[in-house]
Amino acid sequence: MGGRPVSAGLLISLEGLDGVGKTTQIERLASWVRDGHGEVKAVREPGGTAFGEALRDLVLHRIEAQSALAEFLVFAAARAELMQTVVLPALSQGAIVLMDRFIDSSVAYQAFGHGLDADTVVAINHIVTQGRKPNLTVWLHGQPFATEDRDRMEQRNPAYFARVAAGYAWLVEQEPERFLVVDSGQNPDIIFDTLRTRIHRLLNRTKRGGEG
Ligand code: TYD
Repeated sequence: MGGRPVSAGLLISLEGLDGVGKTTQIERLASWVRDGHGEVKAVREPGGTAFGEALRDLVLHRIEAQSALAEFLVFAAARAELMQTVVLPALSQGAIVLMDRFIDSSVAYQAFGHGLDADTVVAINHIVTQGRKPNLTVWLHGQPFATEDRDRMEQRNPAYFARVAAGYAWLVEQEPERFLVVDSGQNPDIIFDTLRTRIHRLLNRTKRGGEG
């Protein structure tokens, strides 16, 4: 990619249906990175900033927008704040940023789940993220599980979750090299090993200065 500066840091996102174990894996990966592989910043979406957490509370717990576009724009606003104030600064310092959900959630949930136009969602995401995409996205692929904190967003029907999963599958088809697809039904230790191995490889490649 002649002349284009290699952006510092590594951006890694975890995606999947509600309750597939993303948060557990992020926590384990964060402590693994901290124990000898570099600076780490773990964030969740929506949220990760004071502004984003307030919006999270609004859309996930207080009120349901009638317009899927309105709901998407709230997620997008939270993401813009997170990118600008946390993710991009951490990346520019060379940190490994682990994200519990990111741009692909919008495509899977708002476009495939709720029928928004996928190109519009991708275009707005591009603006909001200032064009920064993940170096690696893990799709924890499997059935959604009930979690203790059942909020409005998690109480959708199976057809809805099937559409969201189809959205993730579509994204993998678009950018197979960005995705690692992992069966979320496996033992969490095995999942962790798979992710750690892949990230370790990515880190070695980055250290050698290669892009791909
Ligand atoms: P959360 O409580 O974080 O649960 P989990 O990540 O374990 O599923 O729920 C976040 C909810 O918000 C989830 O139902 C997906 C939804 N969401 C979107 O619809 N679009 C988005 O862009 C993001 C970030 C989340």
